[in-house]
Amino acid sequence: MARKKIGLIGAGNIGGELANLAVAKQLGDVVLFDIPSKEAFAKGKALDLEQATAVNGADASVVGSSNWADLAGADVLIITAGIPRKPGQSRDDLVGINLPIIRDVAGKAKQHCPDAFVIVISNPLDAMVYEYKRVVGAPRSKVVGMAGVLDSSRFTLFLARELGLSIKDVRTMVLGGHGDDMVPLLTYCTVDGVPITQLCPKDKLDAIVARTRTGGGEIVKLMGTSAYYAPAAAAIAMAGAYLHDEKRMLPCAVYLEGEYGYRDLYMGVPAVIGAGGVEEVVEVELTDAEQEMLAKSAASVQKVVDIVKAS
Ligand SMILES: NC(=O)c1ccc[n+]([C@@H]2O[C@H](COP(=O)([O-])OP(=O)(O)OC[C@H]3O[C@@H](n4cnc5c(N)ncnc54)[C@H](O)[C@@H]3O)[C@@H](O)[C@H]2O)c1
Repeated sequence: MARKKIGLIGAGNIGGELANLAVAKQLGDVVLFDIPSKEAFAKGKALDLEQATAVNGADASVVGSSNWADLAGADVLIITAGIPRKPGQSRDDLVGINLPIIRDVAGKAKQHCPDAFVIVISNPLDAMVYEYKRVVGAPRSKVVGMAGVLDSSRFTLFLARELGLSIKDVRTMVLGGHGDDMVPLLTYCTVDGVPITQLCPKDKLDAIVARTRTGGGEIVKLMGTSAYYAPAAAAIAMAGAYLHDEKRMLPCAVYLEGEYGYRDLYMGVPAVIGAGGVEEVVEVELTDAEQEMLAKSAASVQKVVDIVKAS
């Protein structure tokens, strides 16, 4: 059977780490794509990564390109094209600059790789994935946004460190839009099945929820640019779930068609990812307080989508 083809649109910080992980996990051959003025950079990064395969013994090719024809037949596309945040910026501040980029990418992807399963990462995430789907006109099963896996990974880490327990046993779920009013669901956070509220005092939990919500900004402040290791790991988990038909239930930005009371909006909800792409949106029970937080988060997403629709 031929190896799968993974197209990475954007060869910057996340793109490079995506390529590294895709090869390390042997998900398939990689095309690392960027704009023509960055083609040499993409080619150099690809060559560097390929040389690492000679040390690590991974059988996969990595090709740098600025030619969409090289992406023909891609099984998965992961989109990081765009500009990341700088200190003091919100994700929503990026809409003006990243909107034309996502439109350009979606138009080209529609033409060259219409059958790919697409994971959008570019910010502001929920609005960019909305626009991507609108331009390509693909079913929601084929176009998903990455945010919830990353936000949940931050929540999981902070809880595990607070409790002094292994990260392996802490399970968390963060829903809603990928903004500072995302919705960490305490009801569904457990340590190997034991509700988190039995193990962690409320004041500590509140502080961890607050830190999770601003977890991206904390890193931007430290590095002067966005996180990239954890975002790449999160998207690769989603790509692996699709390519290996794992049927994982992961929090993803999914186009809602009435679920949770929302329609014509991308927002983070638990979704089953398998060979069919987004195979199911799972509706979990929410408390009144959680529903209120989700409504606030949805309103924030809608505001940015309205800007996109008006542009
Ligand atoms: N969804 C999330 O959870 C999450 C997390 C972190 C970062 N992000 C976002 O991901 C995006 C990428 O972040 P990064 O750190 O990799 O940025 P980066 O600047 O390192 O890389 C982005 C790359 O996209 C390229 N690009 C621009 N226009 C393009 C086009 N039309 N076609 C192809 N490539 C194009 C740029 O040349 C650049 O190399 C940002 O918008 C950032 O805010 C999202």
